[in-house]
Amino acid sequence: MHELAWFDEVLLAKGQEGHGPDGGATGSVRRFIQQDVSGWYVTGHRRIRLLLTDPRLTSARTAASADLRARCPEMFGGGGTSGRRASLIELDGPAHTRLRTTLGRAITPRVLLRLRARSQDEADRLLSGFAKRGSVELVSEYVRPLAVATTMELLGVPLKDHERLTTHVLDGALTGPEREAHLAELQGYFAALVAVKRAGEGDGVGHGDTDLLRNLAASRTGDDPLTDDEICDVAQLLLIAGTYTLPALTAGAVWQLLADEELGARLAAAPTTAPCPDVATVVDELLRRTSVGEDAVVRFAAEDLEIDGVAVAAGDLVLLDLAAADHDPAVFDEPARLCPRRAPNPHLAFGQGLHYCLGAGLVRTQLTVALGALLDRCGSLRPVAGDGAVTWRHQGNGAWPTRLEVTFVER
Ligand code: HEM
Repeated sequence: MHELAWFDEVLLAKGQEGHGPDGGATGSVRRFIQQDVSGWYVTGHRRIRLLLTDPRLTSARTAASADLRARCPEMFGGGGTSGRRASLIELDGPAHTRLRTTLGRAITPRVLLRLRARSQDEADRLLSGFAKRGSVELVSEYVRPLAVATTMELLGVPLKDHERLTTHVLDGALTGPEREAHLAELQGYFAALVAVKRAGEGDGVGHGDTDLLRNLAASRTGDDPLTDDEICDVAQLLLIAGTYTLPALTAGAVWQLLADEELGARLAAAPTTAPCPDVATVVDELLRRTSVGEDAVVRFAAEDLEIDGVAVAAGDLVLLDLAAADHDPAVFDEPARLCPRRAPNPHLAFGQGLHYCLGAGLVRTQLTVALGALLDRCGSLRPVAGDGAVTWRHQGNGAWPTRLEVTFVER
């Protein structure tokens, strides 16, 4: 079966769960057991939207039942018994507010503007190198370097260090001691860099505004500034989001455009003003359709509660499947179709509530620049024929191209 068709089939089946033949609700929560871990799996859009802001569910790993933490200390022990520090996504309450506020202050509209300009320059530079080539492999030659350059700029990390930092992120598959060793190496790298930034030494990187690590090191949240360890944790989180999730999303979005011949042709024919207005319009629909996340976002019941009449006990794991929610036919007509002018488009790609993605503005900007520049410069975009021209990665609900060789004919 075609990769995208497989992915659609899974998502659509999940999106339809919770709806009877007449479209009425039949309950959108079910029990799952996977590799010794059990919990509740929620799929319906309306239900998930409510649960994302329901205080009876928490992201704090400390709320996981003792049984879950014992079975899976790696996943559910953060901030609890494992000795591993909880990341921002795994915290709630004042600890979350403190970290999120400091980070949120550092990713300002001004930072986004600078990153947009940097990213546009980089996109133009990369595309100029493709002239007269005939074909290019878009993931390694365009999508990934573009995302890496922007992320390094955001963090204030020298571009020359990116391979050392992103090897395991791009492989995405290191496990056990190898993974631990790499994470320790990353932590060591960021600790040394933060020390340089704290000392105020010129490292020739970042443009004041966009040097996030320098700004975090300099920031003061009341009398409780972020520690170096906390800054390093944030750096790792953003490194993964920017050099793994972002290129995956962009590659998936390019594929969606290629797969939709009519849309691809229409966008390619659009006037060549930058940023391409049609691309900006279609970005939210691409976000709805392109799933690159884990299986679902993780929550724990902070108290006993009922979800759609099902009793959920305090400490239970509750997985909210955002991609399935974004393919729920009760909310999105023809969910498998990419509708560039879909409005309203209440997709949940970035979550909702207190943990709403802090990178959402950056991601929208990046997609707009990456796709706009590509379509502005390229007169024809088609996958080249032949085995191996397009390869895929599957992860949880997501599927995205890891190799995408296309024709490149400059306008
Ligand atoms: C590229 C596609 C991306 C998608 C689809 C995405 C999606 C999400 C989602 C669904 C959450 C909420 C998780 C939860 O509720 O537990 C989240 C949180 C977060 N995202 Fe993203 N993200 C993306 C990229 C990025 C990027 C590029 C950055 C930053 C450079 C970023 C920074 C964050 C942070 C810091 C949080 C945690 C917010 C908090 O816990 O308060 N994300 N993201």
